[in-house]
Amino acid sequence: MNSSPRDGLAIYPGSFDPVTLGHEDIARRTLHLAGRLILAVAETATQSKAPLFTVEERLEVLNEVYDGDDRVECVSFSGLLMDFAREREAHFIIRGLRAVSDFEYEMQMAQMNRELWPEVETVFLTPDAPLSFLSASLVREVASLGGDVSSFVSPSVLTALERKLSA
Ligand code: PNS
Repeated sequence: MNSSPRDGLAIYPGSFDPVTLGHEDIARRTLHLAGRLILAVAETATQSKAPLFTVEERLEVLNEVYDGDDRVECVSFSGLLMDFAREREAHFIIRGLRAVSDFEYEMQMAQMNRELWPEVETVFLTPDAPLSFLSASLVREVASLGGDVSSFVSPSVLTALERKLSA
């Protein structure tokens, strides 16, 4: 019997600084397409941004959010995403596309990744429309200026933000 994509392994890489409901929505949609999902926190980000959380803290929060879901594994990786994908024998890479403004950056990464390891396809998913304005960088900024981000992140993330920003 042929294997279906639902037997497949997807990697959803990102900075996840922190994971937002937008990321969680993309992860949920991925699980309609693939049986297993690795949420992979990159130690090296392509676009340099001042991080709020350490990689270990981001991973800890992701593990809390996905605690009990056997289909999801949360890990960090160093080096190239495509080396990690090859090592884990992933079938595809997932990225969220929110708006046209995401397109250029995503296209460049997808094309470069294909050059590096053509066996793995990048698949773009769009989030639920009300989440399409959401980004981790806006969550970081609003939270650090005292704004309420409780409708944009899971309770574990909110707790981690409160702890981090009151330290
Ligand atoms: O959430 P982000 O910051 O937009 O995610 C970017 C990420 C982590 C997917 C990208 O920076 C990445 O793949 N980093 C790993 C290093 C790598 O493979 N770089 C070459 C990308 S073409």
